[in-house]
Amino acid sequence: MVDPDRKPHAVLIPMPFQGHIFPAVQLAIKLASKGFTITFVNTEATNYQISQAHHSPINHDIFSDARASGLDIRYELISDGLPTSYDRSRNDEQLWYAYLYLFSTHVEALMQKLLLTSPPVTCLIADTFFVWPSTMAKKLGLTYVSFWTEPATVFTLFYHMDLLIAHGHHACQENRKDTITYIPGVPAIEPTDLMSYLQLDIPPMPRQMLFKAMEETKGADFVLCNTAEELELETISALQREKPFYAVGPIFPVDFTRSTVAATLWTESDCSQWLDSKPAGSVLYISFGSYANVSKRDLEEIAYGILDSKANFLWAIRRDIVSTDEPEPLPKEFLEECDERGIVVPWCCQREVLSHPSIGGFLTHCGWNSVLESIWCAVPLLCFPLISDQLTNRKLVVQDWKIGTEIGGLGIVSRNEVSEKIESLMGGEIGDQARKEIKELKKALETALSPDGSSPKNFDQFIEDLIRQ
Ligand code: UDX
Repeated sequence: MVDPDRKPHAVLIPMPFQGHIFPAVQLAIKLASKGFTITFVNTEATNYQISQAHHSPINHDIFSDARASGLDIRYELISDGLPTSYDRSRNDEQLWYAYLYLFSTHVEALMQKLLLTSPPVTCLIADTFFVWPSTMAKKLGLTYVSFWTEPATVFTLFYHMDLLIAHGHHACQENRKDTITYIPGVPAIEPTDLMSYLQLDIPPMPRQMLFKAMEETKGADFVLCNTAEELELETISALQREKPFYAVGPIFPVDFTRSTVAATLWTESDCSQWLDSKPAGSVLYISFGSYANVSKRDLEEIAYGILDSKANFLWAIRRDIVSTDEPEPLPKEFLEECDERGIVVPWCCQREVLSHPSIGGFLTHCGWNSVLESIWCAVPLLCFPLISDQLTNRKLVVQDWKIGTEIGGLGIVSRNEVSEKIESLMGGEIGDQARKEIKELKKALETALSPDGSSPKNFDQFIEDLIRQ
């Protein structure tokens, strides 16, 4: 616990995306439990979506229960620069423009107001993907803590973009086949395992955002990462030689069956009764996360592959998975034929689902939260990465940890491959091997999170270093 006379006050600002908000909420709780005052900043649009999802009033404060239990977590809302009603799922240029140029002005106006509150604001904890935190923290005389919600491997690949550029491996798409061996702390990695944003020649605004964000990160006083030493020791050690870098994850509530701060952007369907009716290990859970899109063709092949397999299945599928114009993304025949073998819902409580005994496998896009949650529940993975870090996360899952297998690895997905891989994951040799490995990795994470484990130790060390600064 921190000395009450020197109580730190951190302003914590997540990227307004589901996969970033979850860990940020948990980080806020962890810090407040250690005696911090936290001001958590959400965008008005995010809060509106959360309120809708939970049927709450529009100005709903997601931390009211946490505060009632004694934690000093304040909640502020700001504009991201676009009207609340704007459809952000389009991920279009207007959105990139807002994140690049408009959002920071709203943050700064709020920060000026917060600087007058008590206890005095001492630090700014902001998502690594923002393009302004280091500059703003310096201007306001605050410490900047960069919060990275993805693996350390992904962090370091972005951090060393200059090396990739110098070696001609940046935006090289299919042109370069030679293995990358020069990134400190990263064992040999193929160009096709880099994040999509490094493989492809991405449009100017996202590119600018990435470069600027990494430049800002270089100015961070500390980096907190949602990973554990037990998962990525070599990479973390190499990073620690460059920056005060702390592996404090997985940052989730360890009991997945207990409800926590309600910060989901979509209403959760209750699947527990259906899951209770299925035998242990018989259900394949499918989800492609909170923002990535799948092509219509791939989605159909996956759907028919699932039907051709013998597995029971629960598919959480966002209505906008293919494009915002499709009212029903799945083929009509699939929906007609899936009968009692499967259910399809728009969104569920994934942590609860994964911890249900009937779940035997997870067909996933390899979002980092999903990977961590699956390891925690010892559910082997069938990987279908779509964008960004998911490609690199797949490499960690399949090649480094051997806790799963993949579909579409050769660039094309077919229903035959899908059904065969599901069969081998749920009941075959590949699944047996992956289950064995994932149980070991789960034990490693339990060790990491135990009271004397690496993550709590690193967290305490971070707090000590922050206060001493
Ligand atoms: C993206 C990145 O790929 C990821 O690596 C990064 O850390 C966050 O942004 P996203 O699509 O949000 O990923 O996936 P993921 O990281 O897996 O996060 C999704 C979260 O939503 C998970 O915590 C998962 O439990 C939750 N979820 C998903 C639900 O609660 N219900 C669902 O139906 C689907």
